[in-house]
Amino acid sequence: MEDQTMEFSLRPRYLAEYIGQKQAKENLKIYIEAAKMRNEALDHVLLYGPPGLGKTTLSNIIANELGVNLRTTSGPAIERPGDLAAILTNLQENDVLFIDEIHRLHRTVEEVLYPAMEDYALDIIIGKGPSARSVRLDLPPFTLVGATTRAGLLSAPLRDRFGVVSRLEYYTVDELAYIVSRTADILQVQIVGEASHEIGMRSRGTPRIANRLLKRVRDFAQVKGDGVITVDIARAALVSIQVDPLGLDEIDHKMLRAIILSFQGGPVGLDTIAASIGEESQTIEDVYEPYLLQIGFLQRTPRGRMITAAACKHLGLPMPSRSS
Ligand code: ADE
Repeated sequence: MEDQTMEFSLRPRYLAEYIGQKQAKENLKIYIEAAKMRNEALDHVLLYGPPGLGKTTLSNIIANELGVNLRTTSGPAIERPGDLAAILTNLQENDVLFIDEIHRLHRTVEEVLYPAMEDYALDIIIGKGPSARSVRLDLPPFTLVGATTRAGLLSAPLRDRFGVVSRLEYYTVDELAYIVSRTADILQVQIVGEASHEIGMRSRGTPRIANRLLKRVRDFAQVKGDGVITVDIARAALVSIQVDPLGLDEIDHKMLRAIILSFQGGPVGLDTIAASIGEESQTIEDVYEPYLLQIGFLQRTPRGRMITAAACKHLGLPMPSRSS
């Protein structure tokens, strides 16, 4: 199977198979059931949270559970209002339209979305200048599922048009261990419970990372062992991949060390940190920082990011003393 196809088949297809996100899942189950009972489109859903927690998977599940088609696109892919109009006019009744990275929609495109979301209508301007007039076109009822890592970047009028707003949380180690076992089953690789747990612990609360680590550990088990993932093979592989016991990788380490060693523990601005380690500020803010904040290794203050004693202890470095 091609990697892409395999990737897709690893994803759960129904809510009952989806592990974790208990609150979001329970609520969605009710809203989906109610919409089906009324034979109406489900209200628009906004999913937000750090990358890799299952926003795309959930949008697939929502469409499957509703028994409708799913059309997938992303904010930056929709360049002009006409692109969105083309997508919207091709939807069938109660279909799901998934827009990933919805915070990156162009303002002009976003404006087409307002009447579409609110009234299932498209306002088309015909002609130019003084003779221009607006014609309203009816759309089939549909559900917009929007996903973003940064709900704060959504404009208020867009955010207000979602009837369901759901924040995805980092997964617990037990949930991740369960996901690793499930994926191993699908990949037909044997893994002992303790090894699933070890991978779960090092996946920074994120199923996408758990599944990626599982695949790399599987490679080690195949080449260096007899294919079975034991806890020893898992640990040795994770050391080779340079994922530490808390799941922090090279970039996390570089960033934390830079704050401690070059900036006296902070406060230091995000752009300054990014420049000093040669990473994009955006990547740090969306991908790396949320988990470091979650585990209490970083603090955000109005004057910038600050290291914590826990982070220094983890890295085996003394807590810098600030003169200011
Ligand atoms: N694979 C990736 N994420 C998953 C989840 N939340 N539940 C089950 N399998 C998954």
